Amino acid sequence: MNRHSCPQAAHPRRVTVIGAGYVGLTASVCFAALGHRVTCVEHNPHQLRRLLAGEVPIHEPGVAELLADGVGGGRVGFTGDAGEAVPGSAVAVLCVGTPARPDGHPDLRQIASAAAEVAAAATGDLVIVVKSTVPPGSCEAIEVIAAESAPAGVRVTVVSNPEFLRESQAVDDFFNPDRVVIGSEDGPAGDLVASLYPATWPLLRCDRRSSELIKYASNTFLALKISFANEISGLCEQAGVGAGSVLAGVGADRRIGSSFLAHGPGFGGSCLGKDLTGLIATADALGSPAPVARAAAEVNRWARGRVIDRLEAIAGPVTGQRIALLGLAFKPGTDDVRDSPAVSIAEGLLARGAHVSAFDPIASEPKLGGIECRDAYAAARGAAAVIFATGWPEFGLLDLARLSGAMSGHLLFDLVGVVDAPAAAAVGLELETLGRGTPTSFHPVVVPPLEWCLDVAIA
Ligand code: UDX
Repeated sequence: MNRHSCPQAAHPRRVTVIGAGYVGLTASVCFAALGHRVTCVEHNPHQLRRLLAGEVPIHEPGVAELLADGVGGGRVGFTGDAGEAVPGSAVAVLCVGTPARPDGHPDLRQIASAAAEVAAAATGDLVIVVKSTVPPGSCEAIEVIAAESAPAGVRVTVVSNPEFLRESQAVDDFFNPDRVVIGSEDGPAGDLVASLYPATWPLLRCDRRSSELIKYASNTFLALKISFANEISGLCEQAGVGAGSVLAGVGADRRIGSSFLAHGPGFGGSCLGKDLTGLIATADALGSPAPVARAAAEVNRWARGRVIDRLEAIAGPVTGQRIALLGLAFKPGTDDVRDSPAVSIAEGLLARGAHVSAFDPIASEPKLGGIECRDAYAAARGAAAVIFATGWPEFGLLDLARLSGAMSGHLLFDLVGVVDAPAAAAVGLELETLGRGTPTSFHPVVVPPLEWCLDVAIA
């Protein structure tokens, strides 16, 4: 994707973006590709130096190409000072973090200070666009904070425009949106934000609270789809059937859909868990029960915890054993380890006294204390078991004979469906997966229906 193969915005504008993380940097280069002149403000001096040197500090396919194109065409620039960027900009797009506090409430301090900063730097009327995920009512609160910081005579309006980008396919998601949600009670401000996007894109206009809730509810629904898949996966283990084919059969119903029904070690990343707890905290604050969202969070805790329990049920206590962990990223295609199930499995193994060696193609987690190896074979050296915790496609291409030769044991525990079962069997490796029971004619699954049949017969 470059500027010439890309649709153009209805009106090219000067745009300030605050924050050069996954969302901010992707939005900056994509807005530039749509024809806008973007100045991205990054306060972290180390990150800023890298960006000014043309480096991309995140792993996100397509961003480097768009950045080179945008910088080359004079449509993307970086600064550490909002005062340099905001004057002359029609909009300031806030893409700062809204992390969860320990009590689950979103921490909105970064977004409040970014709003105050851009408002203070405005020399004319300014529309602040909130892309960060925030609870309903936040844009109204941010508008109050911004108004207090704005110079006399400057009107600041806040519009909600949440981001739905998935890491590792963020550029593709940006240019192929299912919907662009624009929440504003101020018609002209909403029109201005709409004009940042090509006129042919599916715009969904609503009020700000609805827009904020669309984002929270969307991520909560994705989380609960995954938790549902994991709950069914646990049930399949007890019933002696394979969750893969059961969930494929469920997802084939177009009313349900097959996406986000992959079972595994639970969801992670910087958004789903945070937004789920954010929605629950918001529901609590508003006195509205949220039992479905709570259940999704509870099942996710169980999905992570069951991995080590299953491993110990098969291979005995992990204490003192060497276990190799393949994958640290929260999903394949990214170097992001925030709230990664793989990292929490590593922590759980270490807490139980296992010796853990890990490998990930691009992700790293220094807080695990130097357990990382240069490749999968080095990680497997002397291991009683190898756990596949992130679904990197390259793990499916490993030389299993070589892996087996490096191990002391012969157990592969594939949580993410990357190992070819016949290939593992061919080299004498035992393959365990999640959500796969062993059906026998004496399987206890037959007992309840038999009793229920007899009840009917007796009645
Ligand atoms: C998510 C949302 O999809 C995106 O719209 C939002 O704006 C940001 O948060 P992201 O965190 O990048 O995107 O990852 P996503 O692809 O949604 O996956 C989240 C987690 O769910 C990962 O840990 C992934 O492995 C897991 N997952 C996903 C499953 O366990 N099963 C699935 O079927 C799909």
